[in-house]
Amino acid sequence: MSVDERTVTWVNEAEKRIAEKMEWLSEKSKNKIPYTTIHGVHDDKSSKTQEFSLDDGINWWTNGFWGGMLWQMYHKTGNERYVDIARISEEKLKQCFTDFYGLHHDAGFMFLLTYVADYKLTGNAEGRRFGLHAANLLAGRFNPVGKFIRAWNGEPGEGGAQDNRGWAIIDSMLNIPLLYWASEETKDPRFKHIAMMHADTLMEYFVRKDGSVRHIVQFNPETGEMERDYGGQGYGQGSSWTRGQAWGLYGFMMSYIHTGEDRYLDTAKRIAHYFIANIPEDGLIPVDFRQPEEPFWYDDTAAAVAACGLLAVADAAGEFEKEIYHRPAVKMLKALYENHCDFSKDSDCFLQKCTAAYHDKSHEFSIIYGDYYFIEAIFKLNGTSVYLW
Ligand code: GLY
Repeated sequence: MSVDERTVTWVNEAEKRIAEKMEWLSEKSKNKIPYTTIHGVHDDKSSKTQEFSLDDGINWWTNGFWGGMLWQMYHKTGNERYVDIARISEEKLKQCFTDFYGLHHDAGFMFLLTYVADYKLTGNAEGRRFGLHAANLLAGRFNPVGKFIRAWNGEPGEGGAQDNRGWAIIDSMLNIPLLYWASEETKDPRFKHIAMMHADTLMEYFVRKDGSVRHIVQFNPETGEMERDYGGQGYGQGSSWTRGQAWGLYGFMMSYIHTGEDRYLDTAKRIAHYFIANIPEDGLIPVDFRQPEEPFWYDDTAAAVAACGLLAVADAAGEFEKEIYHRPAVKMLKALYENHCDFSKDSDCFLQKCTAAYHDKSHEFSIIYGDYYFIEAIFKLNGTSVYLW
């Protein structure tokens, strides 16, 4: 059996097992918007029975990924049941627009994979309306002096929180496709210009010479000057949070896909080369490429997002360089599949060892976006994914 045949075999098997699990899991969790699992069972970020702050609960930034998994399944199978279940979460997400205060730059993650996906795949006019609403809210976060989109919320002095009016974060690169889509949809270039100015700012201030990427950069919100950076969810200042590297890699590819500007492809490749050079022998990705040997934690989400990014670079790369990007993507996905995946009925998730942040109290648990990107990547390897970004 050739290497290619061996790859096809396990990818086919993975795709089949994902489809089998999603068939019962979508019914089991149909009234939830999950973030993680508790004792193997999906939690519910839309539940009104728990106490949430405004940016938790229904406004939680990951609330689009469950919808994204359902839309990927609908695209693959044509089964209308996935449309029905995806729309249960969309109905709940309407609340975000009236809450308003809990929404921040993650509007892209939340609404591209729900309303906009619904519109793209079914022509649902409501999806277009809420998608454009979200794009306008995201565009409104643009700071024209610093040419960046503000990340999170809060007013100075509020509850003793750190002043974050000048903060931009690398994750935003996956939110700005909402702006590209809004321009493509309305023929109004304002949204695209904001997205490109933001991408150019991040290209200049976030991507280091070696291809590694910062998580948070603070600009002066009045003058736009860069003031400092933060380690954010990684090990520390100057470290290399792996999901942040993956957000940069896939995010700059998204800007390239929407604009055709080579500078974004070149940036994605630079981050890709850094990422590839740091993939451990076993293909499993730590939380931070510069974390100490102990304590050591994995982050499967970083592997899944980076694999999607590498596959996108491979698509755009010339014939002789495709393998440079394709091979490490397959290596990471196979490592996840063989070591960290659960396809059983004992657990409502796929990936087992995801970590939100290095310094959090909990590590190596299931996180919904890990599952979303794992599915997107496996389907992409088999040519059955849909590009929702
Ligand atoms: N967007 C926040 C995170 O990646 O955890």
